[in-house]
Amino acid sequence: MDSEYGPLRISESSEQSANRCAAFVLERLREALGKQSFAAMAISGGHTPKLLFSKLSASGFDWPRVHVFWVDERCVPPTSEQSNFKLANEALLSPANIPPSNIHRVQGERPPAEAAAAYVAEIRKFFQLRDDCVPVFDIIHRGIGSDAHTASLFPGEPLIRDRTGIAAAVYVEKLKSHRVTLLPGVLVAGRSTVIQAEGQDKAEPVYNVLYSPEDPLQYPCQIAARGSDRTVWFLDRAASSKIPPA
Ligand code: 6PG
Repeated sequence: MDSEYGPLRISESSEQSANRCAAFVLERLREALGKQSFAAMAISGGHTPKLLFSKLSASGFDWPRVHVFWVDERCVPPTSEQSNFKLANEALLSPANIPPSNIHRVQGERPPAEAAAAYVAEIRKFFQLRDDCVPVFDIIHRGIGSDAHTASLFPGEPLIRDRTGIAAAVYVEKLKSHRVTLLPGVLVAGRSTVIQAEGQDKAEPVYNVLYSPEDPLQYPCQIAARGSDRTVWFLDRAASSKIPPA
């Protein structure tokens, strides 16, 4: 049986969790489109979102006014198996026929600093931002790593303290790879956030993010992730296994 308490949606399986997360995301998009001419969604990559993306693309949702951005991207070509764009394109963007003009990918094939600067420029232009403002996404989709990272903000990353920037290139030492990531101020500003976590290896980080003392440098996924009903967690039973019973 699923159990619901507070901002946690715990499901018996990843299939159920993806279904519930998709329904929640679509509802936030509908709300946004009822109030404004477009909806802006920022999505993450990795493995977990694939099922969610396929549920979204199969939903029959009316996508032409939805604009898709990325929470983070690996600095690789869009054809790379490592590319978050490639994952989303195959599971969501193409099957859902999301218009190319609505797809705002990070140009991972460019040098990291250039890719980050171009992405920030595209976000500023789309949201028509003043210099001191960050974009407000209608829905931000995040994951959590086994080390409690989120986006491409890994433990110890100094940019975790940044609250004014929009996106930046980071070098992830443990992965020996460059990435472009949205920065905390954007994650905090999101109208609604979903965080997906599945599998036993996420049980410890999920517990630490929710119940350990606030320390985003150690647990970056704590950014915009607790104490607010604007962030809803979608967990399978394994990822929730260290959460104390209500
Ligand atoms: C990425 C993601 C990253 C992801 C976590 C969880 O580019 O890898 O944006 O933040 O959400 O690493 O990834 P899994 O779903 O593969 O466990």
